Amino acid sequence: MLITNIKALVGVHPKEKLFLRGSELKQLPILENAWLLLEDGLIKDFGSMSEMPSQISNLNSQISVEGRFVFPSWCDSHTHIVFAAPREEEFALKIAGKTYEEIAAAGGGILNSANKLQKATEDELFESASIRLKDMIKQGTGAVEIKSGYGLTVESELKMLRVIKRLKQAFPIPIKASLLAAHAYPTEYKNNHQAYIDLIINELLPKVSAENLADYIDVFCEKGFFSTEETAQILTAAANYGLKPKIHANQLSSSGAVELGVKHDAVSVDHLEETDAHALQALSNSNTIATLLPSCSFYINIPFANAKGLINNNAIIALASDYNPGSTPSGNMNFVVSLGCIKLKMTAEQAVNAATLNGAAAMELNDEVGSITIGKKANLFITRPMTSLAYLPYSFGQSQIETVILNGEIYNG
Ligand code: NIG
Ligand code: FE
Repeated sequence: MLITNIKALVGVHPKEKLFLRGSELKQLPILENAWLLLEDGLIKDFGSMSEMPSQISNLNSQISVEGRFVFPSWCDSHTHIVFAAPREEEFALKIAGKTYEEIAAAGGGILNSANKLQKATEDELFESASIRLKDMIKQGTGAVEIKSGYGLTVESELKMLRVIKRLKQAFPIPIKASLLAAHAYPTEYKNNHQAYIDLIINELLPKVSAENLADYIDVFCEKGFFSTEETAQILTAAANYGLKPKIHANQLSSSGAVELGVKHDAVSVDHLEETDAHALQALSNSNTIATLLPSCSFYINIPFANAKGLINNNAIIALASDYNPGSTPSGNMNFVVSLGCIKLKMTAEQAVNAATLNGAAAMELNDEVGSITIGKKANLFITRPMTSLAYLPYSFGQSQIETVILNGEIYNG
């Protein structure tokens, strides 16, 4: 497929640029008035319309996209899209002023989702997650990470991970799976944390590894959930199975979770709504990516992460959705990018880079997706006619996406 007359081809990063740290985040290379050639599912070549080789211009399968922008697909590196049921009963409580912690303590929250998930079949979970994933793809997502964490028993955590494995096989985008059995303590382990940790380490991890069901280990490291000591035990055990950490850190309090993640060489530490000086210091010049989830702050009314502080401290930051039934019932990355600009005070260029190349890096998929680079997967989207790059985040809540292309083919899902 040849795409011609592209008003702006966005994110034409050189092959060796695998992430953007600190002040580099503003560098979003754009080629104006461009053509783009896709072949065998990959980006084959691109260039300026004024210099299009004649053998290319004779190709059959051509689309001309005057006035439109072409972006690399969003890379959503943090989601919980396998769940049995939404939790809109919590919505009313939230509006009435109850906090996320109060709702969880009153029988809502993660344990509520776990009760429902334990009763759902693998097929039901696959069907409902597929609907969510299709919606996300239509909204421009072309690579995704998905967590377990609503099972909270050996059997149900395995069920969730098997659903993610089926999604990997059924969908035309790269998917990474994270084991988040340490998402909350099941009621029966409330007074015996060590027994649940032992269950994860001695029973669950060997099975997950034997079936090759997870790419990463995740822990909700937070006051009232998993302490830093408990988290460290789980990360150490998972490392023996080759699972690197991607952890929930500093969402509701500054607990030392970020520092712990960095110490354990986490691929990413996610949330950081409480970005204290220790967290900034730990992430400064670190290879651990700070993944910010502004839709979560928006929805549960908690502070927005200190993106500017992280950028000024030479950290690598990514943007992701956190799509889940409790704190973020949305997987719309266009809205995440808008919030990145409006609430995290990132420029449009910074937000786009954080949601594409750095998101890909947070899934270790940055040699495959995340930019318009020769040899990468042809996962991209074409916008409606737009006046400028900033129009996309500016027009928040409205989709500017006209066509989604995955592996070089138009996606009609
Ligand atoms: O990332 N913080 C932990 N996990 C999810 C929310 C889970 C839920 O409320 O169901 C999050 O916000
Ligand atoms: Fe999350």
